[in-house]
Amino acid sequence: MIPRSLALALSLLAGTAGVCFAQAPTATPAPAAQPAEAKPKKVIDPDLLFKVGVSAGKVRGTGFVDESGKVRGQIVGNPMKTTLGPGEGFRFNGTTDWLVLTDDIATSRAGLPVRDFTVSAWVSIRETTQYGSIIGCAQDNGGEEQGWMLGYSHDAFYFALASEGSNDGDGKLTYLKGKTEIKPDQWYHVTATYDGRLMRLFVNGEIEAESREQSGNVLYPASAPYTLGCYLDRDEKFPMNGMFLEVSVLGRVISPAQVVDEFTPGARLTAYEPSFESTQRFVVKPYLQFATLDGMTFVWETSRPGTGVVEYGETLPYTERSPMGSEGTLHEIRLTGLKPETPYFYRVRTIAADGSEIVSDDLTFQTAVHPDTPYAFTVIGDTQKNEPVISALQTFAYSLRPNFEIHLGDVVNTGADKREWTEELLKASWPLMSRVCMYPSLGNHEENHSNYYNYFSLPSPECWYTYTYGNAQFFVLDTNKPVDPDSEQYKWLEAELSKSTAVWKFAYHHHPIYSSDENDYGDTYKEKTTFGDPRLRVLATLYEKYDVDIAFSGHVHCYERIWPIAQGKVDQENGVRYIVSGGGGGGLESSGPSRAWLTQRAYRGHHICYVTIHGKTLQLQAFDLEGRLFDQMDIKKP
Ligand SMILES: [Fe+2]
Ligand SMILES: [Fe+2]
Repeated sequence: MIPRSLALALSLLAGTAGVCFAQAPTATPAPAAQPAEAKPKKVIDPDLLFKVGVSAGKVRGTGFVDESGKVRGQIVGNPMKTTLGPGEGFRFNGTTDWLVLTDDIATSRAGLPVRDFTVSAWVSIRETTQYGSIIGCAQDNGGEEQGWMLGYSHDAFYFALASEGSNDGDGKLTYLKGKTEIKPDQWYHVTATYDGRLMRLFVNGEIEAESREQSGNVLYPASAPYTLGCYLDRDEKFPMNGMFLEVSVLGRVISPAQVVDEFTPGARLTAYEPSFESTQRFVVKPYLQFATLDGMTFVWETSRPGTGVVEYGETLPYTERSPMGSEGTLHEIRLTGLKPETPYFYRVRTIAADGSEIVSDDLTFQTAVHPDTPYAFTVIGDTQKNEPVISALQTFAYSLRPNFEIHLGDVVNTGADKREWTEELLKASWPLMSRVCMYPSLGNHEENHSNYYNYFSLPSPECWYTYTYGNAQFFVLDTNKPVDPDSEQYKWLEAELSKSTAVWKFAYHHHPIYSSDENDYGDTYKEKTTFGDPRLRVLATLYEKYDVDIAFSGHVHCYERIWPIAQGKVDQENGVRYIVSGGGGGGLESSGPSRAWLTQRAYRGHHICYVTIHGKTLQLQAFDLEGRLFDQMDIKKP
């Protein structure tokens, strides 16, 4: 697709810069006197390695040529030219937009410095992520740490660099972290310099970090892309949600005074504070998180900042008020000291700085139940991006009046796409989640994005955690991360399982240990299947050792009840039961063409599961999109 917006903007570059940088930092000023019709001719600094921006660079079809003429890259997606306060730049949407300067530096090192360099950007970040890049070329995968990157992590900028002088065999990156807190939709001038001895990071003209750990030439990976607006290496891809006004790389170091000179003409940009929508409204209406016997967390989001508070009580009108939350647009308040197994009424209130308030409807919640009380939970997985199906399933799930719901991951289709969280998952699930707590797990489609950690409120590290409800303990894993016996997660799981005294033990995680899927674990129309993810079989060993009753997973978009399995074989006496329930909305999948030895019941269709427990009796039912029962399993413990 031709990126019309960027193409149009770059083709109109001469003299159209929305922000007047008195002088582009790396180009000699244009001659002052020019005939009215003549375009001012730029004199390009011979050390300039790369520069694009509202007044630098030209589009060529779906590609571009930077101002130095050294880099001929590709435009990915459709970065839009737009204004943000007093600045005009290109908006990158956080999902599909970035620039590729070089596909692979193994074939071209155009625009890359050898040793001394200055990288500089006027940038605004709408949503920070754990991994974010403004510009760079690096591999950071385990011990392999090579290249350099100017980027951001959570709410701070960083400059990472590996050099030949500090090479520990596969490279060692030094991450300089800035002090300025990145606030959404504000402009920042970020500069990093390296002269073969000293790394420095400047934000808005001030030195915020420096290091002498690295020395000599930049140590580049043998293979990596050189990108702008996307943290992209062999293992990771995190596009930036924000704006660029200009980004440049210069093949020499500029002094701190010169950094100030570059920053000062645009300083007024940094004074801009974004205005929020004029109307205060609920972007996400309040929902529940992490129910315990005596606690509950409430999360909601408003369009304008304010301070949140929860009003609650066993009867109306409300008798209790939580402490005030901190100011912001995403509100999270935990109540503790509640009565176990008790229904409450609640509503949330956000008070803006001008005193205006927004109040939710009256809602209800109930704390977790005692171990001897009967209870029920629903199971959903892979809701992904399918609002009508999610809505139908969640409305049906809530009609069963479960105490809570578990989600098997892939809660959205693109973790970075905020709209999928606010307008799909949370909106479609709201009838359930506003009254019943959902305990999620992390799929691959969340991309480990900060949205998962922002919208869910779980015990640290949030990607794996455990909780007790009634007479059961749940062990939630992140199967995107290592689970081998040397991994932190495996050790944590074994420690938690070994001390569990719960009557029922359930594990859940996104990827299935066992599955008869047609093509996820070998294309069954052409080759053998591994019947699930072999990497996860070490977990089965723990489940067998510590008597886990059921391991739930999603990822495969269907329903499958596996025969009880121990030591890789069907074992009805000692086996662990496995349920795949990935039919919450994602495109459907099927079992392979021949019946698999491990399948007890397979079903292709959108669905949820419903589990009821009393003492040592459990019943699992599975319902299709129309609410029809299509599978049932009963367990009675001795
Ligand atoms: Fe999925
Ligand atoms: Fe998945």
